Amino acid sequence: MSSSTTTTSQVQTQKSVTVTGAGDYKDIFNAGPTSYNKNKELEGSGGIAPAKYPNYLPTWNFDTKYPPLEPFEHYDHGKDADPAFPNLLKGAEVADLTANIGAEVKGIQLSKLDSKGRDELALFVAQKKVVAFRDQDFADLPISEALEFGSYFGRHHVHPTSGAPEGHPEVHLVHRGAHDTTSKDFFETRTNSVQWHSDVTYEQQPPGTTILYVLEVPDAGGDTLFCNQAVAYSRLSPEFQKRLHGLTCLHSAVQQAESSKARGGLVRRDPVSNIHPLVRTHPATGEKALYVNPQFTRRIIGYKQEESEYLLKFLFDHIAKGQDFQVRVKWAPGTVVVWDNRVTAHSALLDWEDGARRHLARITPQAERPFETPFVEKK
Ligand SMILES: [Fe+2]
Repeated sequence: MSSSTTTTSQVQTQKSVTVTGAGDYKDIFNAGPTSYNKNKELEGSGGIAPAKYPNYLPTWNFDTKYPPLEPFEHYDHGKDADPAFPNLLKGAEVADLTANIGAEVKGIQLSKLDSKGRDELALFVAQKKVVAFRDQDFADLPISEALEFGSYFGRHHVHPTSGAPEGHPEVHLVHRGAHDTTSKDFFETRTNSVQWHSDVTYEQQPPGTTILYVLEVPDAGGDTLFCNQAVAYSRLSPEFQKRLHGLTCLHSAVQQAESSKARGGLVRRDPVSNIHPLVRTHPATGEKALYVNPQFTRRIIGYKQEESEYLLKFLFDHIAKGQDFQVRVKWAPGTVVVWDNRVTAHSALLDWEDGARRHLARITPQAERPFETPFVEKK
């Protein structure tokens, strides 16, 4: 066997796991402990500076196994918000990013918001779906303070497989160290890095208001795509919406756990599967949104395999092709992006190969168990 053949087959095994069915699990960003070089990150090498936020470098604690998550009562603070947003947007500069999804806000500090401002943040984000707050001090706060801010929106989710800052398993890290070759390796076997998903939809109570903030990003590249799943739903004909009403789907964490193990990573908590409505209703806005994604949605309950794959493939294509209800968010130092994970999907982009560091942290409050309200046909 030639060395190039060996490399390709290793890459295939380690960098992606394709499952049968309509979904296609891809794990492209979290390279795992085997390719992480702590010394290079702390000291820098080859012209790349040391990590700016060493307190946020990933650690993997293989000794601690976490028990299954327990159900909890979630209250959505967006329901209490003043819809004029006087506490959130006073003095702010607000610009829509597109007509259908996304906004950019300058001139306020999220870390200074009181409880009324945080209520309004939850509702504003539910309406806009994703909001980029620029020039924030969030990354410079002690990690415990950033977590305190996030805890207002729900119980912190501890990710089953990702690396976390020492002592803070509630922080999910998106980290590619300097000189990481994930991108080059990935495209040896794949034609694109698109991986639409909502985060951890396999949990019984998946996240709602979700916060992702920049520690370091490449000068160009590494943007994130977001999709408005409420418009994806409302775009469908009333007859088709009626057909989707009442359907439920299985969401599974198994492929993510297998992918983590294959890369030498950990599985903190045994993988779970949960059944959620295919269309879910937002508790604060009452909007309905598609709640399926190719990363974690495995099948439609009660359908035969071919039927399930046929319908899910249509929905995944519909989400992927809906460019008029998608937005591309550019990161910059100080950016904090907040999205509502119940009514959006997102996809990372693997579009830089120069070995620059990409380092972000996510705070992931869990929300209610997904529910669907009765079908009401639009006249
Ligand atoms: Fe994600």
